[in-house]
This record gives sequence, structure tokens and C-alpha cells, in this order.
Amino acid sequence: MTFTGIIVNKPTITLYTPAMSHRIHQTFQVPLSYPVHFCRDAFSDHESPLLEVVKPEAGGSVRRVMVVMDEGVHQAFPRLSSRIQSWFASHADQVQLVCPPEIVPGGETLKNDYRCIMGLIDQMLEYHLCRHSVILAIGGGAVLDAVGFATSLVHRGLRLVRMPSTTLSQNDAGIGVKNGMNLHGGKNTVGVFAAPFAVINDAALLKGLTDAQWRDGISEAFKVAMIKDRAFFEELLEMSPALGQRDEAAMDRLIQRCAELHLEHIATSGDPFELGSARPLDFGHWSAHKLESMSGYRISHGQAVAIGIALDALYASRLGWIASSEAHALVDALVACGFDLTPPQLTQRLGDGSLQLLQGLDEFREHLGGSLTLSLPSPIGAIQDVHEMNADWIEDELQNLVTLSCA
Ligand SMILES: NC(=O)c1ccc[n+]([C@@H]2O[C@H](COP(=O)([O-])OP(=O)(O)OC[C@H]3O[C@@H](n4cnc5c(N)ncnc54)[C@H](O)[C@@H]3O)[C@@H](O)[C@H]2O)c1
Ligand SMILES: [Zn+2]
Repeated sequence: MTFTGIIVNKPTITLYTPAMSHRIHQTFQVPLSYPVHFCRDAFSDHESPLLEVVKPEAGGSVRRVMVVMDEGVHQAFPRLSSRIQSWFASHADQVQLVCPPEIVPGGETLKNDYRCIMGLIDQMLEYHLCRHSVILAIGGGAVLDAVGFATSLVHRGLRLVRMPSTTLSQNDAGIGVKNGMNLHGGKNTVGVFAAPFAVINDAALLKGLTDAQWRDGISEAFKVAMIKDRAFFEELLEMSPALGQRDEAAMDRLIQRCAELHLEHIATSGDPFELGSARPLDFGHWSAHKLESMSGYRISHGQAVAIGIALDALYASRLGWIASSEAHALVDALVACGFDLTPPQLTQRLGDGSLQLLQGLDEFREHLGGSLTLSLPSPIGAIQDVHEMNADWIEDELQNLVTLSCA
């Protein structure tokens, strides 16, 4: 699969002199394209796309590579680090590993820690990596976001090869153009849009995940299906018991179709760098981001998105935009996959009695630049935007969600 997008940049340069004003209007386009590979065991030489991705360009010198690996991956696969070193040694005529794989804390720990991210930048400079060098980042979405951010800053951007190691990063977080970290108590408050050099989705890495981590990618698949592809939504409903049983073939299918839909959106939506105020792919995310921060990130992104889309689907059915049977089927499917849709944070109240979750709407509004635009399915497979949400209706649908998910 190759992703192709066009970035249009139109800065305006205005020169003022005492006598007259003058303007040069500059426009140029930067075509962006990168491959997203699907394989099993990238560090074996059997049908692995890795060498194809990292080998030097024709006539170029040996490619210098630094590997940064998520601690969770390292713990699940203790021999992987030495396998990686052997793989590079056996291709020494084309690639050079500048140091043993650098192990970094997994999850939000790295994303929250700018000193650790600065440490990675220091290392990239210490090893004299240049703009032809490759950073191979292996990890979950949080590690990929943070390593991608560091990589984009060194010499204004080294080549980043992402090897996502969770279901959610293989179908969403690891395949797009966003990189960043958490600062000032907020999520993704600092970051850049930068396309990777390549993405390699290695299904073998998913074997290391706990059941909860494994199911995390499922909610993003329902999210994108509900707003873009009714047939995929129906397929996911059917697959949900198998997904709940950790069926690998079902997950392969889910990841591939979900990745296709995300990539297609980035390439064709006309707003790959999110300059506009609508964010269709953030369906269900206003409450998801709030639940994550309210829980001190103990609620994972995947679980939070499951709750967020369930709540917004019930709200959309109240508006008459989708059938209530469809919203109920979504809740049933998410429960069948094993999601807990009613953590205590969902109904937590502030001193004045109001739902704390509702603060998520204001925070989302602020993130969007002052005016609220939320996308809801209408009907399944398409979207309609709303610019406000009725707090009483949200409370009702929240109670509805509690009742349905406990039924
Ligand atoms: N850039 C984007 O477009 C984008 C999109 C969606 C989400 N995100 C971000 O992605 C993050 C969530 O990513 P995630 O769901 O991949 O989880 P994660 O990165 O938080 O990882 C979850 C846990 O799994 C461990 N882990 C990772 N791979 C493993 C493996 N193969 N075996 C065993 N353990 C493993 C990690 O160490 C961590 O403890 C959030 O920070 C979210 O904001 C980014
Ligand atoms: Zn998400």
C-alpha cells in the first residue's frame, strides 16, 4: 500500500517601503508518498520488506540506522534486540546500526517526559546522524509519536521508519502524519506534522500484547467504519465475538481495512495537516481525551475511544441520524470484544454537581481554535457536523450506556 498526498503551501510575503507596498504570493506543492507494508516477522529474511525500506539509494553509501525500541516490546521479546543486531550484521554491506537498540519507556511515560525526548535528540546528534540516516522506531503509538517528534527536529527531519507494535498503532497512530508529546498537563499539546519514510506493520509483534492492549485497536476500527464504510461496520459487528476471542485472522483483516480508511482520509480529505476546524477522525474523541486525562492515563486511548464512540453513537441515534438499533449493536459488539464501557470516571461529578466529562467539550473547542465542530455518523458510513451538544441529552445517553452495557 502506498500513501500519496499533496501538501499545498501558500505563504504570503509582503514587503513595505515608505512609498509603496508590494506583495509576492508564493505557492508550491510538495508531493508526499510512503509505503505501508504488512508482514510477519520483519527481522527474518523471509519475505521481509525491511531491507527494501532501509537499503541505501542507488549509488548512496551504507545507510546509518539507529533503532529506538519500546520497553514493553523489549520485555515481551527479550531476544529481539540481539536478533536486530544480527540482522544488521548480516546486511553490513548496505546498512549500519550505529548503536545497540535504544530502549525507551513505553506508553505515555515517554510522551510525558521532554527530558527523555531531548536525550534521544542528543544521541542522534552524538552519532552524527544526517538527513539520509534512518531512525527505526519500534513501539506503540505513544513511543512512535514521541520518537517521531524527536526525529523531525534533528537537522529539520531525519528519515523515520515506523514499526508499530500495537493493534492501535498499526491501524491508526503509526501510519499517519502526526508526531508529538504531552506538555503543560495536556495531551498532544506539542508536535509536528511530518510524514514517515515508511511504515512496516509486523503482525508477529502483536503476540506480545496483553488482551487489553490487543483489543485497544478495535475501537478505532469501529470509529472509522461508522463514519466512512457501512459494509466494514457490519463486518466488524459480525467479527466481534471472534475479536473478543483474540482471533488473529480477524485482527489482520481489521487492521488492514482500518489502515486503508485512515490513509485514504489523509490523502483525499483535502486537509492532511488539519488546518480546518472539522476533524472527522476525531469522532468520539472529545470525551475519550477527557477520560484519559481524568484517569491519569490509566484508561487507555483504545478503551476511551470505545466509550466515546458508544456515547456519541447513542447521541446520534437520539438526533435520528442513525437507528437506535445500530447504536445498541455497537455497544453490544464493544462489550463482546471485552471493553469496559463504564469506568467510574464516566459519571464523576464536580462540586457543583455537573458532570466532569462535559469539560471535555470545552477542552476540545479550545483545541480546535475556539469554535466547536464535532462529527457524528449520519447515517452509518457518512458524517454530519454539530457545533454544540445538549448537556441534558449527554447525561441521558450516559445513563443509557450504563444500562445497555450492563444488560
Ligand atoms: N499520531 C497519531 O496519529 C495518533 C493517533 C491515535 C493515537 N495516538 C497516540 O497513540 C497512543 C496510544 O498508542 P497505543 O494504543 O499503541 O498504546 P501505547 O503506545 O500507550 O502502548 C501501550 C502499552 O503497550 C506496550 N507495548 C507496545 N507494544 C507492545 C508489544 N508488542 N508487546 C507488549 N507490550 C507492548 C507499551 O510499552 C505500553 O506499555 C496515545 O498516546 C495516542 O495519543 C496517536
Ligand atoms: Zn484515536
